[in-house]
Amino acid sequence: MKESLEALERSAFSAIEEATTPKDLEGLRIKFLGRQGTIASILKEIATLPPEERPLVGQKANILKERIKSQIDERLKSLGSPLGAKAHREDTTLPGTCGATGRLHPLTQVIQEVCDVFLSLGFRVVEGPEIETEYYNFDALNIPKSHPSRDTFDTFYLDTTHLLRSQTSTVQIRVMEKEKPPLRIVAPGRVFRPDAVDASHSFMFHQVEGLCVDCDVRFSDLKGTLSLFSKQFFGPKTRTRFRPHFFPFTEPSAEVDISCILCDGKGCRLCKQKGWIEVLGAGMVHPNVFRAVKVDPSRYRGFAFGMGVERLAMLKYGVDDIRLFFENDLRFLRQF
Ligand code: DAH
Repeated sequence: MKESLEALERSAFSAIEEATTPKDLEGLRIKFLGRQGTIASILKEIATLPPEERPLVGQKANILKERIKSQIDERLKSLGSPLGAKAHREDTTLPGTCGATGRLHPLTQVIQEVCDVFLSLGFRVVEGPEIETEYYNFDALNIPKSHPSRDTFDTFYLDTTHLLRSQTSTVQIRVMEKEKPPLRIVAPGRVFRPDAVDASHSFMFHQVEGLCVDCDVRFSDLKGTLSLFSKQFFGPKTRTRFRPHFFPFTEPSAEVDISCILCDGKGCRLCKQKGWIEVLGAGMVHPNVFRAVKVDPSRYRGFAFGMGVERLAMLKYGVDDIRLFFENDLRFLRQF
C-alpha cells in the first residue's frame, strides 16, 4: 500500500508538471482528487486492511491528497491562469527590487575629496597629458640634466623625446605657459615610475599637484593652505609639520608631515613611533621655473605642492597594500 502511494505521488506530480493548460489540470484534479478519483478509491480500500495498518495509510493518503492539490494550484499559477492570479495577488506595499548601483573607485573618491577642499579655497581643477616630453617633466622644472630621476631606471621613456610623466608638476608648466598669474590650480592625474611592485610601490600611481601664483604669496600662505587641507581631509585634530627638504623646482622646499591619525602623535606602529607621518612635498616656486614660462620672478611668487593619492587613501582608510587599488577585486572595492 505504501509503495503504491509513493508510485501514485510520482505519477501525479509528473503529470501535473507536464500539463500545459488549466483544462489539463482540471482533468488531473478530477482524476486524482475527484469523488471517483484515485485517492478516493485508496481511501475506500483502507477498510480491507488489517485494523492496525488503517490509521497510518489513511493519514498518508490524506497528506498526499493535500500535496497533489497544492501542486495543481502552483502549476495553475505558473500557467498564468486567472484562477492562479486570483490566488496570488500582488502586494504593492512590498519594497521594490532595484538594479545594482555602481560606485566610484576609492582613488576617484579621494581625488574628488582633495579637489573639493581646494575648490573651496578658490583653486581650479586642470589636467595635463600623461605622455610628456623631457622639457615639461624635467627641464622647465629646473631639474638638471644630471639628476638621477632622469635615468631610465626612474622614468619610462617611450622614444628619444617622449616619456610617461613621472610627476604631475608638469601641469604647473603647461598652465603657466598659457595663462598669466594670478593662478590657483590643482592638477590630479596618473604618474608612472619603473618601480618594482610591492605593498607600497606601483609602476603607476596618482598625484594631485597644486600651484598658487600671485604678487604677494608667502610661505605662510602655503602653511595655512596645507594645514587647512590636512584638517579637512584627515579630521579637525590633525596637526601639520614642515620639514626642510630639497626639490629642484621649489626654494625653499619642505616635506610635510601630519600628526599620526592613529595615535594622535603619541607614537605607534603606523607612524613607526615617530608621531608624524609624511604626506606630501611642497615649497615656494623656484625663480628658474618662473623664468622658463616667462613669468617675472621679481614680480610674482608662488607656492606649489604635490601629494600621492594612494598614500592619502591608504592612510585614511587603513589600507596596507597599494596593489589592492588596482586588482579590481569587488570584495575590496565594495567597502568604499
Ligand atoms: N613632484 C614631486 C614628486 O613627485 C612632488 C612635489 C614636491 C610637487 C614639491 C611640488 C612640490 O609641486 O613643490 O615627488
